[in-house]
Formats: sequence, C-alpha cells, structure tokens
Amino acid sequence: MDEAALTQAHAEQSRSHSEFNMIAAASKLLGFIQRQTRAAIFTESLLFAIGIGILDYASGYEVSVLVFYAIPILAVAWWCNRKSALVMATICAIIWWWADYLNGHSYPHNWVAVWAPIACFGYFGFVAIVGSSLKKQQAVVESRIALLEHSQRLEREIIEISEREQRRMGHDLHDGLCQYFAAVGCAAASLESDLTSAGMHEEAAVAGELTELLEQGVVQIRDLARELVPVQMDQAGIAAALEQLAASVVRLQNVACVFVQDGDAILRPPAVATHLYRIAQEAIHNAIRHGGARRIQIHLGTTGNTATLRVIDDGSGISKTNQGSKGMGLNIMSYRARLVGGDVTISEPSTGGTMVSCTFPQTILAAKTNVEEE
Ligand SMILES: Nc1ncnc2c1ncn2[C@@H]1O[C@H](COP(=O)(O)OP(=O)(O)OP(=O)(O)O)[C@@H](O)[C@H]1O
Ligand SMILES: [Mg+2]
Repeated sequence: MDEAALTQAHAEQSRSHSEFNMIAAASKLLGFIQRQTRAAIFTESLLFAIGIGILDYASGYEVSVLVFYAIPILAVAWWCNRKSALVMATICAIIWWWADYLNGHSYPHNWVAVWAPIACFGYFGFVAIVGSSLKKQQAVVESRIALLEHSQRLEREIIEISEREQRRMGHDLHDGLCQYFAAVGCAAASLESDLTSAGMHEEAAVAGELTELLEQGVVQIRDLARELVPVQMDQAGIAAALEQLAASVVRLQNVACVFVQDGDAILRPPAVATHLYRIAQEAIHNAIRHGGARRIQIHLGTTGNTATLRVIDDGSGISKTNQGSKGMGLNIMSYRARLVGGDVTISEPSTGGTMVSCTFPQTILAAKTNVEEE
C-alpha cells in the first residue's frame, strides 16, 4: 500500500471513529432524557426556552433566533404530550414577544405589531402539533415492529417445538417399536429354525414369512424414524441424510428418487442442515401429493461461496395445481431458507414438473453455525 492510500485509510478510520463517537454520545443523551420524568423534561425545556429568550433579547431584534424556539417545543411534543407542547408553544410565544418588546422593536403599523406575535404563535403551535403527530406515528410504527417481531418469535418457537416433538417421536420409534419388532423378528427366525429341525416344513415356511414381514416392518419403522430425526450431521453430513431421504422415498412411496451431489457441500451444523433437510422433505411431499410426480431428483451443489439445494420433479407443475392454496409448506420453506441466510424460488423447468431451489451462502452458514452451537 503506498503512502497516499495509507493516509486515506487512516483518515477514513478516524472519520468513522468520530462518527461512532458522535452516535454514541447522541444515544447516551437520548437515554438520559428518556429516563427522566415528563415534569423534569418540561422544566428543562422551559429553562432552555428562557435561555433562547435571553439570547433573543441580547442579539437585538435585527437578528432573529425564532427558529431555535422550536427545540424546546419539539422536545416537549416528543417526550411529554400534545397538550404540554401547546403550553410550551404559548410560553415560547410570550418569551419571544417579551424579548421583542424589551428590545424596543417598533413596527411601521399597529396591525403589524399585533400580527407578528399571532404569526409567531401560529408557527410555534404548528411545530407542537407536527412534533406530537410525528411522535404518534413513530409509536404506531414501533408497535407494528414489536408485533412483527413477536409473531416471528412465535413462528420460530412453533418450528422449534415441532422439530423437538418430531425428534422425540423419531427416538421413540427407533428405540421402542423398532427394537420390539426386531426382537419379535428374531424370535420368529428362531421358531422357523426349530420348526425346520423338527421336520415341520409347512409351519416353518409360515414362520419364515412372518420373519420376512417383521424385517420389512423394521425397515419401514427405521425409515420413518430417520425422516423424523433426519440429520446425523456428526457422522455423515447433509449429503448422507439426503441420500437416505431419497432411498426412503423409493421404499415408502414407491417413487423413483435420486440424490445427486456436485462439489463439497458437507454442511456440518445440525440445526442448519435440519432446515435444509426439511425444505427437501416438504418439496418431495408436495411433488408426490400435489404434482403426482413419479421421478424426483434431489440435487445439492456448490458454486464458489454459494450452495444450492434443488428438488426437481416430473409432476404436473405447480401452476396447474396451485389455486391460491392456504397451505403452510411453501411459507415454512421460505422461512427456513431465511434462517440459513438464503432464499427459496419455485419454477417450472421447460421439461415440465416443478423445481424448488434453495440458495444459501456457505460463509453465512459457517457464521450462523457458531452462534447456534454456542
Ligand atoms: N411440486 C409441486 N407440484 C405441484 N403443485 C405443487 C407443488 N408444490 C406445491 N404445489 C402447489 O402449491 C400449493 C401450496 O403448497 P404448500 O406446501 O404451501 O401447501 P399444501 O401442501 O397444500 O399444505 P401443507 O404443506 O400446509 O400441508 C399446494 O397446494 C399445491 O397446489
Ligand atoms: Mg405442502
């Protein structure tokens, strides 16, 4: 870096430092004012108005400081209420008139001498009304923002609760029912071998069938459990989880489903990967349920710093089925995408069907991960 660039960098740094100091001082002052009672703010504004009145008197009537009277009026309008602001406007008009009178300001006509304080009061009253209206407007905006934040918090909590419940059900299925079926399957297998050695081949064949059915049952329950507790990130990553998802769609739904990966998109953080997994899961459910898809491709790819998860189906296409649905799936998909710093788009490829794409930055992912893991 040459000297000029270094000097410019220093200048920029010191400028941003002083801007930061100014903002910090202003927010300190605002905090100090907000902590005071309304009576204290009114009294301080009154003293300020008297100060301006003295300045007004000292500067003579040739120099106007009229505009500065707006400060105490606005302060009262903002931190007290409209009534107090109008009282302050009246007091300021009296102070202004008094300073004017003491200065011996002579008017060319009598009516001008009457009109000047009326116009001044009108201006101050206008400032008071505009100030208090702005404050009201700001209060409305603040309450809307609070409501929005509240509903976003609720949304997040609902998703977290449903995630927790699904995990609990998945664990129960895996550790309870699945083990139970596996144990019964073992018993059936040993019965089959006992019956075979006893020469009861017909009965042994029935027991063999039973064993097979129980084994299939175990596989189905395990698939269900995996759908509910999807991402074993510590061991295998999102790619492995999506691969399992594709396999379970083939087994449970009898739909051709493949997983394809480009590049190195191994996303370790479980919370982030779970969101992506759920997006894929919803897209697949929609493809089968609404689009009647027979072939689905899940694609996970990375280009530079950006990763994309795509679910492409050969169904009827979203535009054919979506008649202003009140479903939640697409909204939750977008919400989850936002949580991982990305967004979702839905399109219809020229070859037909529907394509759901979720694009998200890998670096933001890493940053979020740290926060979540903390
Ligand atoms: N892959 C798809 N193929 C065809 N239509 C689709 C596809 N995905 C979504 N749709 C259409 O978009 C609508 C909205 O989907 P969304 O997932 O938001 O709601 P839903 O599936 O109807 O209900 P929910 O997801 O809450 O159970 C669906 O009703 C369907 O008409
Ligand atoms: Mg849906």
